[in-house]
Amino acid sequence: MRTTENVLAEHATIRTNYMDKVTRIGVSIEPELLKEFDDLIGKKGYSARSEALRDLIRNALAEETWRIDTSDVVGTVNLLYEHEKGNVRERLMEIQHLHHSQISSSMHVHLNAEQCLEVLVVSGKAGDVKRLSNELCSVRGILQGKLTMTAGSIGSHLHE
Ligand code: NI
Repeated sequence: MRTTENVLAEHATIRTNYMDKVTRIGVSIEPELLKEFDDLIGKKGYSARSEALRDLIRNALAEETWRIDTSDVVGTVNLLYEHEKGNVRERLMEIQHLHHSQISSSMHVHLNAEQCLEVLVVSGKAGDVKRLSNELCSVRGILQGKLTMTAGSIGSHLHE
């Protein structure tokens, strides 16, 4: 029953939440599904459902951004290769120099006697970043190549 007191209390909650810049929402969900969700987020180390839900929403929104080739994105390209096989090193260097404006940073780790891991931080339009990643990952001699795009974008600095 919605009494005046309840309505006032609701309004107070809405005001408080507005001030905290969060909105509380109620979600209806089947118990079995919720149990599976709780098990999953427990394994992933989340201490609260809210944080897990926020991450899911952020990821869904980010994925939508990455789908649109004209959106600004930032990400990393991981490249695993054997440095003595063919001319993989030269080819990777050549591509990186050609696309230097899209590569903010790179890191090279000598994993063992044969294998190298190269991590590139890339940014630009999603379409260009995907094309660059495809070019790098398809170099002959790359054992594993993977592009990961993040929800951030260079130029929007939100943390204090
Ligand atoms: Ni190396």
